[in-house]
Amino acid sequence: MLRWFIVISFICFSLISKVQGFVDEKLFNLGVRSGDPSKEGFVLWTRINEEEIADRNNLPVKVKLQVYEDEQCSLLAKEVDLETSEREDFTVKSDVTGLNPKSIYYYRFKYGADQYSRTGRAKTLPGPDYNGPIRLLVLTCQNKNTGDFNLYNKLALDAWADKIDYVYFSGDEVYEYESYDYECGCCCARRPRAFQLPSEQPSAINYKDFRAIRHEYLKDKKLQDFYASIPVISIHDDHEIANNWYGNQNSETKRAVIPGRVYKGMDHEQIAEDGLRAFELYTPIRCSEEKVGQTNRKKYFRSFLFGQTAKFLVTDSRSFRDGPDKDIDDPEKTMLGQEQLGWFMKELADWREYGLTVWGNQTMFERFSRCPVSCGKTRGLLNVDQWDGYQAEQDMIRQAMLSGPGSQNRMVWLEGDMHTYQQNHTVATSKEGHVLAKALGLMTPAVTSPGFKEEIGCCGQSSCVMSLFSKLCLCTNRNIKHFDADIHGYLLVTLNKDHVDWQVYDVSIDWLPEDAMQNLKHKCKGSYRYIKGKVKKLPTTK
Ligand SMILES: [Fe+2]
Repeated sequence: MLRWFIVISFICFSLISKVQGFVDEKLFNLGVRSGDPSKEGFVLWTRINEEEIADRNNLPVKVKLQVYEDEQCSLLAKEVDLETSEREDFTVKSDVTGLNPKSIYYYRFKYGADQYSRTGRAKTLPGPDYNGPIRLLVLTCQNKNTGDFNLYNKLALDAWADKIDYVYFSGDEVYEYESYDYECGCCCARRPRAFQLPSEQPSAINYKDFRAIRHEYLKDKKLQDFYASIPVISIHDDHEIANNWYGNQNSETKRAVIPGRVYKGMDHEQIAEDGLRAFELYTPIRCSEEKVGQTNRKKYFRSFLFGQTAKFLVTDSRSFRDGPDKDIDDPEKTMLGQEQLGWFMKELADWREYGLTVWGNQTMFERFSRCPVSCGKTRGLLNVDQWDGYQAEQDMIRQAMLSGPGSQNRMVWLEGDMHTYQQNHTVATSKEGHVLAKALGLMTPAVTSPGFKEEIGCCGQSSCVMSLFSKLCLCTNRNIKHFDADIHGYLLVTLNKDHVDWQVYDVSIDWLPEDAMQNLKHKCKGSYRYIKGKVKKLPTTK
């Protein structure tokens, strides 16, 4: 009798799983992602592992995308037929529309009769009537060589529990390095983890390398869980291609330059094109093209409306910038390039119906320390790869952020790249010295990339040295109100129509065993409110 029961149960189970299908983690081995939310949809992404396709001669590969109203995937909201092939490197991307505003949806991809991806969760933007809070997680700089992505365990759970609305990733979502070289390679420098690139070069030099890096990152289970849980608004910075690369806006002949010895004699333009191709194929992002001279360049700058609460502008400060060798006093020297700058200035001048204007910027906008002796082309500025190297444009944007009817104290910019937490202010004053308007800048700490603490080796282990260093930065930079180089983590920023709240979180990047992850602390290092041009400290959340 028992034997018959087992046989019948097995047949029933087989039939049910045949009908319902199964999650094929080998076929969809890089998980699922969502990005670029709009009030009626978002971009959804996955990749088919071509080695798991039964008939590789039968191209293009056909995939179905299913979007549901419920987590159990029973209320179908949308179904889309998609295709992919070698041309797209077997990535699948769909810009889904026709959904309801400020609503949570669940999605999965289907291959063949019964092979499914895992189920992801995404959220549309609010409609034009919404004027409530928006909870934005701000991230930057996740180097897989130098630390573990521990923070994503809790952040994925928080997203599924709807404690965060959307994510802004300010660049350096991957790094081009095979390994990482610390400035100070002494015994207490954290040991980097390396992986080998197909070219066997120390940094990526072709599409195969960039593709291998994308796979290396996207295979990370913590990152997969996080990306499946929430829409991410991404933009590249330099390390998606190469350290400090620039698009060379005003040159017809050299349209991309990569400094550094590794790239000497190589085709920089082709490397930049390959890096950007990988960025675009592997990121759920919308983009268009701009004609510069004889060629088309991809436009990744774009805007998002959070109802009436805020307008969010994302710029790309790498693809169109002039090189650092151009004189910093040249009024024509550009970081954003002509078309993007025109678009940005127009958006900044429009203060009408939004509570806040929020700018997603990559590199430090406000002034960083200057050498006491002004010398050479850079006039003693230490930070010419960032906005300090583009002074005319920096001044123009500063002016636009602080002037115009209704602009007062309603501008916030979010940035990354320096692997520190910073709170920056930029201020317009009257001739008498009265503060007329203020804008707030928040630099989010790096997810894992090494900051000053790691780069200065043993000295960075001393809390006295780090505290002295912070004090030095504060007293030499009047625009910096808070500077913390002893941190890895993220900012959780809540945008309200008339104020901004934010919390700064510090999370360990140590490679820990799986069971230690449950008890891992996300230490809140500060909680603040920016209202009517003033910053108040709030009680720190546990
Ligand atoms: Fe970085």
